[in-house]
Amino acid sequence: MATLSDRLSVVGVDRNEVFIEKATRLAEESELPNLTYLMADLYDPPFPADAFDFIYARLVFMHLSEPESALRILHHLLKPGGRILIEDADRDCMFFEPAPESFPEYWRNVQNGQRRRGGDPNVGRKLASYLKANKFNDICIEVQPILGSGAEIEFMVQELLPTLNEYLEPSLRAQGDVALRDLAQLAQDPRATFLHFWFAVSGGRAPAGS
Ligand SMILES: C[S@@+](CC[C@H](N)C(=O)[O-])C[C@H]1O[C@@H](n2cnc3c(N)ncnc32)[C@H](O)[C@@H]1O
Repeated sequence: MATLSDRLSVVGVDRNEVFIEKATRLAEESELPNLTYLMADLYDPPFPADAFDFIYARLVFMHLSEPESALRILHHLLKPGGRILIEDADRDCMFFEPAPESFPEYWRNVQNGQRRRGGDPNVGRKLASYLKANKFNDICIEVQPILGSGAEIEFMVQELLPTLNEYLEPSLRAQGDVALRDLAQLAQDPRATFLHFWFAVSGGRAPAGS
C-alpha cells in the first residue's frame, strides 16, 4: 500500500539521542525509507534555508526558553509559501472532575518547576501571537477538546504525570505522590472525567513575490 512517505521525504528531529534511535528503529521496521530521523537542536538545525514545504512541532514549544527565536529559525527553513503546524498544551487548560483537593497546588508546583527550567507550561495560548509577531501569516488556531474517563485518567497517572514529578522540588515530591494517589483513586470513580484543551496553531510563510 502506498503511504505518504512514498511520495514525500520526511525528516524528524529531536535533540534526544534515545528518541532518535527508537524512532529510527521503528521507521526501519516499518520499511519507510523516505522517513529519516536526525539528532539536532532546534536552535541550530543542520538544514539550508528554504528546505521544507511543511514543518510540524508537537509538544516541543512548551520546553523552549526562546520560542520566538525558534520560530524565526523555522520561518527561515520553510520554503516561501510553506506552512508550519505547532501542537502544544497549556497546562492551565486541564481539568479533572470531581477535582481531588490535592490537585490544584500540586499542578501549580509542577508548572512553577517547568518555568524554573526555562519552559513555559502556558505556551498553548501564546502560539498564535508568537507566529503573528514573527512574520507568519494566514494563522489558523484550533482548540481541540480531549475528554476522557477512568482508563484515560489511569493512563495519565501511570504514564504522563510521573514524568512531570521531576519538575517538583525534592521537598514537594511527597505532595506529588499524594496527588497521584488521589488521581488513581479518582480513576475508579465511574463519574470521573478528564478534560484537556489542546492547541493546534498553524501559520504560513508568504509566497515568493508577495
Ligand atoms: C514532550 S517531548 C515530545 C516528543 C515528540 N515531539 C512527541 O510529540 O511525542 C519534548 C521533546 O522536545 C525535545 N526538545 C526540547 N528542546 C529541544 C531543542 N532545543 N531542540 C530539539 N529538541 C528539543 C526533547 O528532547 C523532547 O524529546
